[in-house]
Amino acid sequence: MGLARKRGNMNIVLIGFMGCGKSTIGVKLSYFLRQPLIDTDKQIERNAGCSISEIFAKQGEECFRQMETQCLEKLLQDKSSFILSTGGGLPMREENVKLLKQIGKVVLLRVNADTVYERLKNDTTRPLLQGDNPREKIEELLTYREPVYEASADVIVDVEGKSFREILDEIKERTGA
Ligand code: S3P
Repeated sequence: MGLARKRGNMNIVLIGFMGCGKSTIGVKLSYFLRQPLIDTDKQIERNAGCSISEIFAKQGEECFRQMETQCLEKLLQDKSSFILSTGGGLPMREENVKLLKQIGKVVLLRVNADTVYERLKNDTTRPLLQGDNPREKIEELLTYREPVYEASADVIVDVEGKSFREILDEIKERTGA
């Protein structure tokens, strides 16, 4: 077992659909475990010097997806411990899932379409939800992605009807963090 893998297994990696609470839970986990929170979207925006929406508009989604993979490759070399919050589409690339599993324990925050819609109906920062019918788009994407998320996860936590505190406790208990 390589050093990166041994060290990486201590990290918690949050995956899940847009609006599932990865960033909020990530902040709370980061505080509890005293580990920094790294967010792939924020890393990409920092490196690119512009927003995700601008990357999608100017360079296209495929380019953004390549940036996600490059971001994970870089993080795999990072010897410190951290909590990783990922973009909702990131696990859709098989190579990304392999990288995530080397980085740490993969925790899926499972959410339903109604909750996502309620949380993101007024959001303007997610290019994939800016069309005429975001409700339909959420359902379509979620239906397609959910089996991939589930197959990628080491731990699945249902977030529906739970407080952030309950979600946090469940993650701690089920990952041994
Ligand atoms: C995306 C999710 C977003 C961001 C980008 C694409 C997706 O991140 O990476 O807009 O494909 O689901 P969040 O899951 O943090 O919203």
